[in-house]
Amino acid sequence: LVRLGVLASGRGSNLQAIIEAIEQRALSAEIAVVLSNKQEALALERARKHGAPAVWLDPKPFAGRPDSREAYDRAVHEVLQKHEVDLVLLAGYMKIVTAVLVSAYENRMMNIHPSLLPSFPGLDVQKKAIEHGCKIAGCTVHFVTEGVDEGPIIIQAAVPIAEGDTAETLAARILEHEHRIYPRAIQLYAEGRLRVEGRRVVVAEAGTPAIGFH
Ligand code: GAR
Repeated sequence: LVRLGVLASGRGSNLQAIIEAIEQRALSAEIAVVLSNKQEALALERARKHGAPAVWLDPKPFAGRPDSREAYDRAVHEVLQKHEVDLVLLAGYMKIVTAVLVSAYENRMMNIHPSLLPSFPGLDVQKKAIEHGCKIAGCTVHFVTEGVDEGPIIIQAAVPIAEGDTAETLAARILEHEHRIYPRAIQLYAEGRLRVEGRRVVVAEAGTPAIGFH
């Protein structure tokens, strides 16, 4: 079983989808640890309920030094190592990870992002897609590199934008697809079917389209 280390800052609905896929045995993985920078993150509660270790790592003691983000990530790395994590998952983790973690988990760290990358990296992206007049939005699971929201794309799902959509209604519809594609990307990894070739992720075996319209 692939040992997952999930980094989450908030609600943790993607973590929950992963937990449910594990509990339904749709995912050959186990939660090794869930770590949050926020003490009140619902994600930590969800981990405990599942019986998985939940760690709050307070960023405050690291603040105010020039290498505060790297120092924090070294502490995160220690936690991940202690729990023998194979694959790191960013799931609503609202901190930019530094080279410390990126290099330690090269091609072994995924992120989920609520847009069709490379369109709309960053924050408030559902609102930005609507304001831009896009007709199709979506979500992306990608490997994490040092550039924010830039790494090789593993799976995307397209979600049409309806007349009258607000950022909230669109985000909720995109979220349903996040919950579907994140476990699927993890399972592809668990089956050893993902290969990174430069910018591209090649998914072994035909018949599993990497881009879907739904
Ligand atoms: C999700 O929509 C995820 O794609 C997004 O935050 C939400 C977290 O929800 N992530 C980002 O915007 C990362 N830049 P969750 O805590 O319920 O999984």
